[in-house]
Amino acid sequence: MRVIITENFKALSLYAAQQIAMAIRRKPNLVLGLATGRTPIGTYEELVKMHREEGLDFSKVVTFNLDEYHGLKPTDPSSYNYFMWEHLFKHININPENVYIPDGTIPVTGIREYCLWYENRINFFGGIDLQLLGIGNTGHIGFNDPGSSLASDTRLKVLSLKTKKQNGPDFGGADKVPDCAITMGIGTIMQAKTIILLASGSKKARILARALEEPVTSLVPASILQMHPWVKIVADEEAASKLRWKNHYRRVEEVRKRIGYEEVYVK
Ligand code: PGA
Repeated sequence: MRVIITENFKALSLYAAQQIAMAIRRKPNLVLGLATGRTPIGTYEELVKMHREEGLDFSKVVTFNLDEYHGLKPTDPSSYNYFMWEHLFKHININPENVYIPDGTIPVTGIREYCLWYENRINFFGGIDLQLLGIGNTGHIGFNDPGSSLASDTRLKVLSLKTKKQNGPDFGGADKVPDCAITMGIGTIMQAKTIILLASGSKKARILARALEEPVTSLVPASILQMHPWVKIVADEEAASKLRWKNHYRRVEEVRKRIGYEEVYVK
């Protein structure tokens, strides 16, 4: 696990976008796992800029989103489908057939089958090469709130009240946030070949420290990333402020830079 500490949100966004762009240039048909929320917005802005200014080509890229609220249509402005088209897809040359976002309109009776189909689609493309993640105030990744099985696959989850509160502003109040979502499981996320988790702002400092520097527990779902063979945590100064090993992480990056050591994971 590498921890990259950036000066601010802008530098975090640029770093994440550069990592994604590098992966796409190495593998034009990259299978890219995408996240929603406030944190990745800056990364998507940078990717759009790279597409416009440097011709970054998304025509063969396949994307899978982590999650979607249950009960929302893709056209609902609060849906993650809408979010993704607004912030990224409509500004780049992605093939709409290569975009996968869980469908929030599937009736509960069909969800199990639908989730198996979603997992099968990921496997059909050879698995996710690079998964982008945020971290929730509860420590969730995707919508896997505390108590989620660390081996779970895609399924319907009931959202915690803390998560509803966090996302309340998108709906005009926590009570208006849907109770359930379809989310990739923690097991699904762990199968991604490489992972980048973004954390920004002082509100994430404590949960990030718990996830990275305390024992793995389903009560802090992001802590499972300690078990992943290739993960980069990209945190800005505020989000990194409570990391006890902060100076060590910085030193690791300095030494690697000095000796010019950077692995190539996406072939
Ligand atoms: P945020 O959400 O980026 O809006 O902080 C992250 C998350 O809940 O996963």
